[in-house]
Amino acid sequence: MKSLNTLFLLVGLAFTAVSSLSLEAYSRNDFPTAPGFVFGSGTSAYQVEGAADEDGRSPSIWDVFTHSDAGHSGGATGDVACDQYHKYKEDVKLMADVGLEAYRFSISWSRLLPSGRKPVNPKGLQYYNNLIDELVTHGIQPHATLHHFDLPHALEDEYGGWLSPQSVRDFTAYADTCFKEFGDRVSHWTTINEANVFALGGYDEGISPPGRCSPPSAVNCSKGNSSTEPYIAVHNMLLAHASATNLYKKHYKHKQHGSVGISVYTYGAFPLTNSAEDKQAESRLNDFFIGWILHPLVYGDYPETMKSFVGSRLPAFTEEESEQVKGAIDFIGVINYMALYVKDNSSSPKPNLQDFNTDMAVELTVVGNTSFKNQYADTPWSLQQVLLYIKEAYRNLPIYVAENGQMTPRISSPLEDTTRVEYLRSHIEAVLHSLRKGANVKGYFQWSLMDLFEIFGGYEMSYGLYYVDFKDPFLTRYPKLSAHWYSSFLNGTLHHRSYASSSAL
Ligand SMILES: *[C@@H]1O[C@H](CO)[C@@H](O)[C@H](O)[C@H]1NC(C)=O
Ligand SMILES: *[C@@H]1O[C@H](CO)[C@@H](O)[C@H](O)[C@H]1NC(C)=O
Ligand SMILES: *[C@@H]1O[C@H](CO)[C@@H](O)[C@H](O)[C@H]1NC(C)=O
Ligand SMILES: *[C@@H]1O[C@H](CO)[C@@H](O)[C@H](O)[C@H]1NC(C)=O
Ligand SMILES: *[C@@H]1O[C@H](CO)[C@@H](O)[C@H](O)[C@H]1NC(C)=O
Repeated sequence: MKSLNTLFLLVGLAFTAVSSLSLEAYSRNDFPTAPGFVFGSGTSAYQVEGAADEDGRSPSIWDVFTHSDAGHSGGATGDVACDQYHKYKEDVKLMADVGLEAYRFSISWSRLLPSGRKPVNPKGLQYYNNLIDELVTHGIQPHATLHHFDLPHALEDEYGGWLSPQSVRDFTAYADTCFKEFGDRVSHWTTINEANVFALGGYDEGISPPGRCSPPSAVNCSKGNSSTEPYIAVHNMLLAHASATNLYKKHYKHKQHGSVGISVYTYGAFPLTNSAEDKQAESRLNDFFIGWILHPLVYGDYPETMKSFVGSRLPAFTEEESEQVKGAIDFIGVINYMALYVKDNSSSPKPNLQDFNTDMAVELTVVGNTSFKNQYADTPWSLQQVLLYIKEAYRNLPIYVAENGQMTPRISSPLEDTTRVEYLRSHIEAVLHSLRKGANVKGYFQWSLMDLFEIFGGYEMSYGLYYVDFKDPFLTRYPKLSAHWYSSFLNGTLHHRSYASSSAL
């Protein structure tokens, strides 16, 4: 133990040469051992699988979006992506090389159920069975997400997707299929990935699938209503989540012993000044971003601030619905990349057609200098603030950090990602501090396992531990310094040579 800590201290010193950093020494041994606490990495189906048109898969709303003019990925699509559909064995081997204890992936609904409903596509079923078996064989715990921005397009076409309460029934049946087919090996289920940001991007700003919006919030969509649709979509997603979770409790939990959660996009939030208005604004931001999703699932209704600021555009839960959603959550997936300063903007005159942003009535500034090569600023206390906030506000439910990582452009020396190493080092340290302060954190998933198709930036932006050469027909993967760092952290040793070379940069 002591010698390990000394080694980590040396790493800290090596880095001090390039940027002055905390010298806190910690190791994997300071965290509970797996499976009490797991370290992993994540991807999602559309972002890595490719084979978009193969073996019976039908398009999701994300395929349609990237193939339309509205796509915000510079014409890039997930048609081929990293081709994980064909390379899953190689990729699981890469995960094992890093020493990942868990892998967060998503199931493509339209690969498993091409029409959105049964019958099951046997090739899709076989693919996920193969992937899960390969993970289990390598001792990597599978964490599956059911919806990651990718509703089957057939359901969008048929009844407007998440805007229709019919989505609740179809999502529940899809979840039922997954629990039944994969639940003997998968015990961690996330229903819907960052429902809040999915609704805002897809129905308010129109910058992500299904690409709906209306003026004055956004001007480039052919259909939509930014004032109302984000709230309706989230309402149906919450009912769908609760329905699937309650189904699991009733029919699967006693034999499969798993748990079902939902993930939320969060910002570390800090009032810009000490004024009462800015402190209220900070609390409003938390209610709008985090409480929108978690408050109903923990307490059975939307936060009071949302009800009063949004008024009749916020759907109301019936008594029966309130009972269904309340308590329908085993864990919270926290997605956090950055922090914001929050300033009150509630006294500005309101436009005629309000949306989430004007409803929330705050002005936001990103904390830290993010201009340097477009990277996210290294603000680990942002993650810590969110974890401790959720502990207090949401009854200390178990938390998985579902996504955290650094975005960098895919530039000239892509393997020497020293800033990503420092980002991971400082954020994992923040998780440790949060644990010590009583947050019920059960795992940490770095985003992303490899460079992949990003919703904003296509293939220009990278978060990966592995670099993927997208110009190479074999899509060869190369470990970055961050992969070596994570691997050393997870096996409790260090990779001196990498550090020596990086500190000389
Ligand atoms: C709207 O779309 C046009 C054409 O694609 C583009 O030039 C413009 O920047 C877009 N405007 C916004 C606000 O996204
Ligand atoms: C959005 O819906 C609201 C409430 O139904 C309505 O008042 C408003 O005119 C609609 N906006 C658009 C752009 O259709
Ligand atoms: C402040 O609120 C007004 C009215 O809702 C809005 O038009 C304006 O954009 C807001 N300012 C900022 C910086 O968000
Ligand atoms: C942010 O960082 C870049 C690169 O280090 C520097 O050029 C720029 O002046 C910084 N901006 C601020 C506002 O500090
Ligand atoms: C730990 O990981 C590092 C980096 O991948 C590797 O070089 C080293 O051999 C590993 N050590 C053990 C004991 O597995």
